[in-house]
Amino acid sequence: MTKSPSYLQTAERKTRSHTPVIECPDKVEADKIFQIKISLGDSTGHPDTNEHHVRRLSLYYSDSDGKTVRQITGVEFQSHSPGKDALSRYETIVDAKITESGILHAMAYCNVHGLAEAIRQITVT
Ligand SMILES: [Fe+2]
Repeated sequence: MTKSPSYLQTAERKTRSHTPVIECPDKVEADKIFQIKISLGDSTGHPDTNEHHVRRLSLYYSDSDGKTVRQITGVEFQSHSPGKDALSRYETIVDAKITESGILHAMAYCNVHGLAEAIRQITVT
């Protein structure tokens, strides 16, 4: 696999509050629906103000050689807390099915800190 471009904030380069988390089975059956959850959420959380917030979470799948990439889902967050009482939780859950082993790529975009990426291998049995 190729190395992530330097403009991406990977787990090694950035704190967890910007790195998305991918939750799904390590192994799935071909053409069987399974659930994938992507979130930004460790115990420290991420600011959710008009000035600093997460705008987008996206999930992509690529085959093992990385030649084909497809977007599975993308979520835009449009509301942000003007005060201290409101809070958005940055997460989405999608049902998906795949036919070949590959790689899931979750991307989060913060309006201040830019793109962050998480990658997870998924195996079709
Ligand atoms: Fe941020």
